[in-house]
This record gives sequence, structure tokens and C-alpha cells, in this order.
Amino acid sequence: MLEKFSFRKEKTDSKGSVYSLEQIDRSSVPNHIAIIMDGNGRWAKKRGLPRVAGHHEGMKVVRKIVKASNEVGIRALTLYAFSTENWKRPKTEVDYLMKLPEEFLGTFLPELIEANVQVRVMGNKDQLPPHTRNAITKAISETRTNDGLILNFALNYGSRFEIIEGIKSLLKESNEGKLNIEEINEEVFERFLLSAGLKDPDLLIRTSGEIRLSNFMLWQLAYSELWFTDILWPDFNENHFYQAIVEYQRRTRRFGGV
Ligand code: IPE
Ligand code: IPE
Ligand code: MG
Repeated sequence: MLEKFSFRKEKTDSKGSVYSLEQIDRSSVPNHIAIIMDGNGRWAKKRGLPRVAGHHEGMKVVRKIVKASNEVGIRALTLYAFSTENWKRPKTEVDYLMKLPEEFLGTFLPELIEANVQVRVMGNKDQLPPHTRNAITKAISETRTNDGLILNFALNYGSRFEIIEGIKSLLKESNEGKLNIEEINEEVFERFLLSAGLKDPDLLIRTSGEIRLSNFMLWQLAYSELWFTDILWPDFNENHFYQAIVEYQRRTRRFGGV
């Protein structure tokens, strides 16, 4: 009985699950997958390494999952890389996390360009150190015309921040007489969110065993399928990713209907 009322947490086999690309039904591939990449710190701790070693390892997994997304034919992949709450962490860790975009893009940008990936970033860019901002600006501009996978990094992103900023811009337009209050509906409001132009995620994946959203895409995830695994992000691989998609494809989405 209790099972019925709790979120389903899928059991993944850390020794390598049997899920493969071939098991995915190509006719119903999710359009947009969002991932809360969690568990880097615990991965490092288990090995007696500093937390930043987990972040470094996690970066390699990003590359793997981008490749897998391309193979599966997903339209958009949103990755939660740094939350508006992550500034609470020790300065050394925050500094390292702010260097990761440069490191990742410095190494993999040519590969992303080659794969026709379009890089986007959603979050409060004003608070980012200049070196981080420069790295992402370069990647965005160099991949702007690519029309393959949209790789959307949620960097210094928080859903509440996004909604408040959206409301501010909306009120500004309204005050300037560009928008009538009567015209505001869900579609109009979405234009003011940082995810504007992207469809809502069909599937949300969170690694590391935490079963919460941590201020991630609260508006956009209203009807997404949620998939949780105990696997820590640095241990996450293509097979786990395929498993999430196969299990997504077994679900019935109802959107409030029958
Ligand atoms: C996720 O891993 C990466 C970021 C939040 C930047 P964590 O750093 O949260 O790892 P845990 O949850 O402490 O294991
Ligand atoms: C969410 O993970 C943020 C990212 C993965 C970037 P956290 O590790 O910050 O979330 P909490 O603190 O466990 O909720
Ligand atoms: Mg965490």
C-alpha cells in the first residue's frame, strides 16, 4: 500500500545494467530531458578524495551523456550544473565549480561544434565571475547556428529566481503598455522564463538517491515524468541513461486526462 503513495525509485545496477540503445523505441523518444546531476561530493568522499575530484569526474559523465543524447535523437538536454543556493558552499569548492565551464568547454567545445550541438545557458549570468561568463559566451556564440542537440546548462539557476525575474520583466512590459494584463496566460508567461523557446522536459532524471527538486524548473516540470536513481553522478553512464528512457517509454502520460 505504502508503495502506491511514494515516488518510485528505480533500482539500477551499479555494476552495469543491461539496458542498451537498441531497447529504445525510436518513435517515442523524449523531446527534452533534464538532469539534476547530484552526488559528486559523496562519490569523492567514498574514495577519500576532495569533493572537487567528484566534480571533475562528473564533467566526464556530461560528455558521455551528451554523446548518448545525440545518438538517441533527443532534441534538448538540460543539465543542472550550479544552483542559486550552491554559493553557500566553501569558497574553494565554489571557485572550482566556476572554473569547470571553462575546463569543460576548453576541452570539448570543438567536439560539440563537430556534433552540431547548440550550447545554451540559463541562470543568473550577472553573478558569475568574468572568466566563467567569457567561456560560456564564447561557446554560445560559436554554436549559435548549430541545429542539432540543444545542450542547455542550468548555471547559477534557481526556479524561484527565474519566476521572480520573469514577473519583473512582465510587469515592465505591462507598465510600458506593451502587454495587457488580460493577455497574460501560461504561454505568454513562459516567454519570460529562462527556458523560453524550449519545450517542457518530458523526463527528469536525478542521481544520488535524493528525491527532491532542489529549486529546479518548478514551472516546467509540472507534467514531466520523474526518474530517480541511487547511482552517484560520476558513476552514471549511458546504460543508466538508456534505462531511464526505456522506463519513461513504459509509462502512460495522462496530463490530467484519462
Ligand atoms: C552535484 O554534486 C554537483 C553540484 C551540486 C554542483 P554535489 O556536490 O551536490 O554532491 P553531493 O550531493 O554533496 O554528494
Ligand atoms: C542540486 O543539488 C543542484 C545541482 C545538482 C547543481 P544540491 O546537491 O545542491 O541539492 P540539495 O542541497 O541536496 O537539495
Ligand atoms: Mg548534492
